[in-house]
This record gives sequence, C-alpha cells and structure tokens, in this order.
Amino acid sequence: MKTSIAAIAALGAFAAFGVPGPTMGWSSWNAYHSDICDSLIRSQADALVSTGLRDCGYDHVNIDDGWFGRRDENGRLHPHEKRFPDGLKPVVDYIHSKGLKAGAYSDAGENTCSNVCGGDPLGAGVGLYRHDAEDVDYLFRECGFDFIKVDYCGGLPIGNSEKRNLGEEKRYREIRAAIDGAGFPDVGMNICRWDYPGAWAREVACSWRVAPDINESWESCASIISESLFLAPYAYGGRYNDMDMLEVGRGMTFEEDRTQFAMWCAMASPLMIGCDLASMSPETLSILSNRELIAVNQDPLGLQAAVVRQFGPGEFALAKDLLTPGGVTRCLVFYCASGAKTLSMDFSELDLGGKVEVRELVEGKDLGSLEGTISYDIPAHGARVFWLKAEKRLERTRYPAHWAYLSAYQEISAEKPIGACYLHGMLSDRGYWHAAAGVGGSADSWMAWRGVHSLEGGEYDVSFEMLDAGAGFDVVVNGENFGHCDGSGPLRIRLERGMNEILLRNDSSAIGAMLAMDLAKASAGR
Ligand code: GLA
Repeated sequence: MKTSIAAIAALGAFAAFGVPGPTMGWSSWNAYHSDICDSLIRSQADALVSTGLRDCGYDHVNIDDGWFGRRDENGRLHPHEKRFPDGLKPVVDYIHSKGLKAGAYSDAGENTCSNVCGGDPLGAGVGLYRHDAEDVDYLFRECGFDFIKVDYCGGLPIGNSEKRNLGEEKRYREIRAAIDGAGFPDVGMNICRWDYPGAWAREVACSWRVAPDINESWESCASIISESLFLAPYAYGGRYNDMDMLEVGRGMTFEEDRTQFAMWCAMASPLMIGCDLASMSPETLSILSNRELIAVNQDPLGLQAAVVRQFGPGEFALAKDLLTPGGVTRCLVFYCASGAKTLSMDFSELDLGGKVEVRELVEGKDLGSLEGTISYDIPAHGARVFWLKAEKRLERTRYPAHWAYLSAYQEISAEKPIGACYLHGMLSDRGYWHAAAGVGGSADSWMAWRGVHSLEGGEYDVSFEMLDAGAGFDVVVNGENFGHCDGSGPLRIRLERGMNEILLRNDSSAIGAMLAMDLAKASAGR
C-alpha cells in the first residue's frame, strides 16, 4: 500500500493528467507583511530549493503587498527604492533561475490593503484601477511575473477617491481581459475578495479567497474551515476555494499545524507556505513535505472533500473521490474543531463495500484491511485523513442538497439574487442537514448535482425531500429535460454509466427549500 501511495504522491505533485491542482508555493505576507526586500525574497527562493519543498510541488514565490514605491506623474509604477533597489525584474529572474514561478500582488482598486487597513502611505494610488494596461505591461512583459494575487481593498468605497464600490465582477473581468489582451493568458490569478464571489470568478481566476485574513491561531483556522466546508461544489475544473495562506510553523501547536495542513490538502485549497523557510523547524518541514497529503491536494480530479456527516458541533466527516470518478479509491477526513472524540463511520456511508485497505496520512500509519466500519480517536483541534481503497464501489442513492452547485450562489453582493445554503440544524441519525434555498425564478439560478454515480446506467426514479415544496422544477439529466417534477416526485429519468449531472431549474418561480435527492433504480419491465 505504501509504495503505491508514494508513486501516486510523486504523480500528484506534478499532475500529469486531469485538471491543474491548487497553486502551491511560498508567500511573503504572513511572516513579513510589508517588510520585504530583494535579499529576503531571494533567500526564501533558495530555501524552497534547499529544503526539498520545491520538489514536493511548491513552485511559486509570491511577493505580496509591500513592494510598491510610488506611481509617477506618467502613471508608471516604481517599486520601493530601498527594498528593491534594482527593481523587481532581477528578483523575478532569480526566482526563475531556481526553477520556480514568480507571483506578484496588486489591488483591483486604487489603494492596496496595507494602505486602506494599515495606513501605509506607500500603498496609496498604486492599485490597478485606471492603470490596468500599463501595470500589466510592467508586471508581466517587463518584469516577467507568472501569477498575480489581486486584492480588493481599493475597490471598496473606503479604498478609492471616488468613494464607491467599483464592482468586483466588472473589475476582475477587466483585469483578466487586460492580462489576456497583452498576451499572457497563462498568468494565474487569485481573487482576494474574502468571500465566495460567485460563478464568474472561475472564468477569470484559478482560485478565490472565501474568508477574511488568516492569523496564526487555531480559532482563525477553524473559522476558515467552517466557512469553506459547504463550498465543495464550487471547486471543480481546476478552480479552487482559497482558504488563505498556511500558518504552519508560525506558533500554533504541532497538532494544530498538522490539522491546518491536512484540512487545506483535503479541501483542495491552494497551499501557500507563510513561515520563514530559512528558520523553520524539522517538524514544520515534515508537515509541509507530507507527500501523501500533497497528493490528496493535487489529485487529478481536483475535488474538494465534501461533508458526508456532521457528528456534533465542529465534528465532521468529509470525503472525496481520488484518481477516478466513482472509483474504489476515496479519501475520508475525520475532523474535530474543539474537543477530542472517537469518530466512527460505516464504509457503506462512503459508498465503499467489501474489504477496504486503509492508510492514515497525517501520522503515516497503515491500518491494514478493514471491513464494515472505521473508528479512530481524533485529538482536540485534530484531523486525520484516510486513504481508502475498497474492493467495491457501491451505488449512492441519496444526495444531500449541500453537494449541489447553486449557479447563483455568491457571498459578496446583497443586490444580486442569492441562492442561499443555510444550516437547517436538524440532528437526526443522518447527522445535521443543510437545505438549499432561494434557487430558481431566473434562467441564471439553477442547482445541479454533478457527481451522480450510476454503476451500470439505466432508468431510475428520482424523488426529492424538501422542507417546503415550491412551484416545482424541470429535471435536466446530462442536458436532457426529463420533464416537470412537482417538488417531490418520483420522476423517471435515465442515467449513463459512470458520472451524471442532475440539474433542477425553474426560470419563473422559486424552487422550495431542498434537503436531498433520492434515486431508486427502476425495476426491469416497468
Ligand atoms: C489583504 C489580504 C492579505 C494580504 C494583505 C496585504 O488583507 O487579504 O492576504 O495580501 O491584504 O495588504
């Protein structure tokens, strides 16, 4: 078992097939804030190589806020004269000479966050707003950056001289168009808007922040995990929810550091190291270079582990497929945000049957071949990630609402229709369940389960459990409309062998509050 995981780990770090994995690398912000300079960036690039982290897949060196000097009367940006006396290009060249990619930082608005939130005068007027073309030319053509994190403080009314919200979607689309238009379509972009921005984000960026800034405390990590737990449907196709930079090695306990890393890996967040690489401890390095967990993060399917069960407040099981959609290899996470607890789950709840080979990846322990149930002691503030390889994949019959993608869901604008996923808070023998509400009433607002698995394909009766029945909806399977359902069903549909998409839509009226979808294979001859 160990050998095969190591082989997969090597593969995962350089995803040779499937979608591109979440961005990996080092970023200057957590450890240094604006106190950065040429020699610091070079020494961190050196350390990425000498510690072996580059070869684990950490291939970006991102220069965050703090590099700005001024914008001159002709609109041209100048880096800080003391921190980067020779400019940024020699630093970017140095990063490239180490086989690494260089990431830049800017703001979609007028002023950067260190100006707006920290009062740093150097961050005033240096954001991209009104300078998209010239800044893109400077950063990508002249300096040669490969990636950019684009913040939004300057797009808020407090961050620009027009005192208005410049509009997230508009600004990020304009910036993407400027980058593409200048001939740099391969430049990766991260949207730093601190909440899930909505469906448009995936058209311009490879990741988007989903929560406010992280800090080196367990409370901060736990709150970001809880903000991203139910965002799994929005991570697909090589686009990811960004849970912010890693605080591993910056003062949390060893267990908390391991938990942050494990959860970021299983939840397919970008992995941007935030500590000083030159002085990190052997424990920190061992956490960051856990290749088996990195393989889970960089898995070619590019999925974020989704909540399978909530045991109690802050106690969750999450799971996702690895390697093959609907295959026998899956990843299971047990997570306890507060106290220690023994968590148990039947493999059948994970759609796995027969004997299951199990390896725990945080501690690196083979648990051998188990059958029926997995049970494990999870420490306080702890997580364990299990690599499962089963004899059989079982067919799932129930799909909770929180596994569905809601096309109009977003968390930043109160003016737009919001398909809200809210906690129903019902603790039953199935755990806590969420309801999807606010979907429908427009052609842009629909919901879809993307990973509906059929072992053989064929006819099924689909029915729905709802908190309140709305006006009903059309059921569209793999693009084919199977007709109108009154909200409960059953409705006869046809699934293909393998993965299917079941989409519900009602362009004129709201779909009621959805709890779950149930599938029953139609008996032959009916
Ligand atoms: C914001 C971002 C941080 C960091 C700072 C820089 O707060 O969310 O990640 O980039 O700005 O000022």
